[in-house]
Amino acid sequence: MITPATPSTSTLDSDTFRDVISNLITAVSIISTQRGDERFGVTASSVTSLSLSPASILVCLNQRLAIADVISETGVFAVNILGEEHGHLATQFSQNHEDKFRGTNLTTGDLGSPILSDALAHLECRLVERKDFATHAIFIAQIESASYRDGSPLAYWRSSFGNFGVE
Ligand SMILES: Cc1cc2nc3c(=O)[nH]c(=O)nc-3n(C[C@H](O)[C@H](O)[C@H](O)COP(=O)(O)O)c2cc1C
Repeated sequence: MITPATPSTSTLDSDTFRDVISNLITAVSIISTQRGDERFGVTASSVTSLSLSPASILVCLNQRLAIADVISETGVFAVNILGEEHGHLATQFSQNHEDKFRGTNLTTGDLGSPILSDALAHLECRLVERKDFATHAIFIAQIESASYRDGSPLAYWRSSFGNFGVE
């Protein structure tokens, strides 16, 4: 059995890593949750399908983001997968602002998470496990409800928004 490397053993500098990993094209989502009257949302490209049975995903969020601790508290969140026309929402939710949800059409999910009505797809999730690694928290969650509409997803590649060129 090989002993896993500890987080401090990488010799790759972070600028090089950022440049290289930006070649990994991703979809873009808004992770959202609510505590009392306060809504939280962040742009995230780190959403990954984990297992079909039980239906589950993982998402990685920087531990310094307020939403990371709020998800740990509430135990629920939504994934709003953005359509190709939603680059402005990806930018809006990646920048600090007292009302990140301004100008959006919102509904509330069955578990109480804010849902962006215009998103391409929605998942409402219940937190199963949080694992912290270096700067980030890895959230593993089971899907409680899911829906999608026709349309194409927003893509993120080398710091630019676009589409996947598929119909
Ligand atoms: C396309 C894109 C993808 C991002 N993906 C992630 C991600 O997966 N995890 C993460 O912690 N931050 C990610 N970020 C950065 C966060 O969105 C950003 O740090 C956060 O919204 C800042 O929130 P605050 O202003 O409330 O602190 C991404 C940003 C962009 C533009």
